[in-house]
Amino acid sequence: MADLYDFPDIYDERFTDGAHQAYKQHYEKMLAGKNIHTILDCSFGTGNLTFPLAELGYQVSGSDISAPMLEKAAEKARDKGFGIKLVQSDFRELSSHFDQTFDCVMSTGSALAHVTESDVIKALREMDKCITPGGWLYYDSRNWDAARENTNRFIVPQPFYQEDGTRIGCVQVWDYNADGTITINIVHSYERDRRIFHTNNFQEHLNPFSIDAVRSELERMGYSQAEIKPCPWFEDKPFSEIGWYCLMAQKP
Ligand SMILES: C[S@@+](CC[C@H](N)C(=O)[O-])C[C@H]1O[C@@H](n2cnc3c(N)ncnc32)[C@H](O)[C@@H]1O
Repeated sequence: MADLYDFPDIYDERFTDGAHQAYKQHYEKMLAGKNIHTILDCSFGTGNLTFPLAELGYQVSGSDISAPMLEKAAEKARDKGFGIKLVQSDFRELSSHFDQTFDCVMSTGSALAHVTESDVIKALREMDKCITPGGWLYYDSRNWDAARENTNRFIVPQPFYQEDGTRIGCVQVWDYNADGTITINIVHSYERDRRIFHTNNFQEHLNPFSIDAVRSELERMGYSQAEIKPCPWFEDKPFSEIGWYCLMAQKP
């Protein structure tokens, strides 16, 4: 089955201006008062969740394992007039690709679950090596603890309309595998005049990781208490009811 990250134009179809603005507001709140100027996003993708930070005036750099996603990101950065350093890197080897440190190192877009829980810990250690003392580690993620409890199989996000009237529908079917991993089957349908004229299929293989494993590792590395918020809007709910969260913690 095709990998969505090999098709960055399709990946970008569903990212709306509304989401862009929501993330911008989210970052304004999360980063306020934290003395952050330089940011590295180590799962930059095509930059949807990171360009809002460049617009807010932060000096942004990015890395990602996928060359096609980075090529699209570079094209978008040029169009937007942002000078963003982009490097191809696996976040489990991040420090070997950067010789400077940053005020904040992020992983956006729930990217960490692409690797196993023990490799998430490895990635956190690599992110830590790239953070200036007193700086910040930030990631966002689906709430895998809640997802494992729910075992909902079918998710149907709101359809998205293109300028030419094409309606893009999306259905996700989650397979809960015996080894604890989750395969998300993604089907997009393209419809005009109440007729589907095209479909495509993708699969993501994900490794749920628990927030407790992250908390323990951050504690071991000496980080101060992690702030956890829903993404991208701030609704105060118990953690078990948050579908997608971000965590931000300060390096000693
Ligand atoms: C859901 S996308 C998020 C991209 C972007 N942050 C956004 O929100 O639009 C997940 C990204 O993680 C990247 N990724 C997956 N495994 C990775 C790894 N081991 N190291 C670095 N990036 C990885 C993928 O290539 C993809 O661009």
